[in-house]
Amino acid sequence: MAQKILVMGGDGIGPEVTAQAELVLKAAAQAAGLDLATEAAPIGGIGYDQAGTPLPPESLARARAADAVLLGAVGGPKWDRLDFALRPEKGLLKLRQELGLFANLRPAEIYGDLVHASTLKPEVVAGCDIMVIRELTGDIYFGEPRGIFLENGVRVGRNTMVYSEPEIERIVRVGFDVARKRRKKLCSVDKANVLETSVLWREVATRIGREFPDVELEHMYVDNAAMQLIRAPTRFDTIVTGNIFGDILSDAAAMLTGSIGMLPSASIGGRHALYEPVHGSAPDIAGRDAANPLAAILSVGMLFRYTLDRPALDGWIRAAVTAVLAQHRTADIMSPGMQQVGCKRMGELVLERLARTPLQAQAARH
Ligand code: IPM
Ligand code: MG
Repeated sequence: MAQKILVMGGDGIGPEVTAQAELVLKAAAQAAGLDLATEAAPIGGIGYDQAGTPLPPESLARARAADAVLLGAVGGPKWDRLDFALRPEKGLLKLRQELGLFANLRPAEIYGDLVHASTLKPEVVAGCDIMVIRELTGDIYFGEPRGIFLENGVRVGRNTMVYSEPEIERIVRVGFDVARKRRKKLCSVDKANVLETSVLWREVATRIGREFPDVELEHMYVDNAAMQLIRAPTRFDTIVTGNIFGDILSDAAAMLTGSIGMLPSASIGGRHALYEPVHGSAPDIAGRDAANPLAAILSVGMLFRYTLDRPALDGWIRAAVTAVLAQHRTADIMSPGMQQVGCKRMGELVLERLARTPLQAQAARH
């Protein structure tokens, strides 16, 4: 039976980049003889426009039934005045929660000569290869109580930072598992000098660490981690952290690599998985064929690696992306001497490169 991939383009540049990613998905599946079927469903602002809610029940049902979801991006100024519960972002947050996607993997690595596209000095970012593992279904994002309340005659905004021991345990375990397959260095990021949730986090991370004696564990406060990411990013291998710290640090880590337009992500947990670029919907360039589809295309690579257990296809796609970048760039990563192309053309170039690279040779190397 065909495996089902649900494509949710979403808002802004989301549909443009996922269209290219879907072509790569189909081409790679065909080359490998995999039986994949795709279907589409609305989410975010477009979900609200079509069904009055950012995660239409029909979309959620399809996501549950799919083997994986490939998502674009959500949000835009058009929906900024809506109630919190109806905002596009809420659709994505609800989808992550409903599917139990508690582990978000955000690799930040430098492709080809993009070392010159970073705002940091090439000698600082060269060789940077970091995996940020962000907890995705807990923390201040979902803690109760939350809201804007009237208390003693003044309005008070309230959110709750909360982590239970099992929640910390399962994400820290993912951290150790991933670090074990990489350079065996795990940095657990918290704010244990101030927050109780972090004191518990650190205690649990230390305890789980005893089960992984081959992985070197260090603890770091989040403010220091932000600084070290900019100062000496190559000192990091795998980072594991909570939802809000991970949201912030993964954007910082993304910029090391030149452009947030390059970074894919995988959200996993239980039997569901969702793949999406780290970047947002970029309404300012939407509909102009100017977006960088590579983060979405690399997300397809992660889908092959984690959901379909075909790491060789991920390697094949990444090699094609690296090769294309030697001559062609989208606006966000443009540098002198390169040829600037749009979103569609960039997708085509990756497809052309894939068509010219035998999958067999690549598969043997991974
Ligand atoms: C991300 C985004 C989301 C988040 C928003 C769009 C809800 O910033 O995926 O990092 O905060 O998780
Ligand atoms: Mg974010």
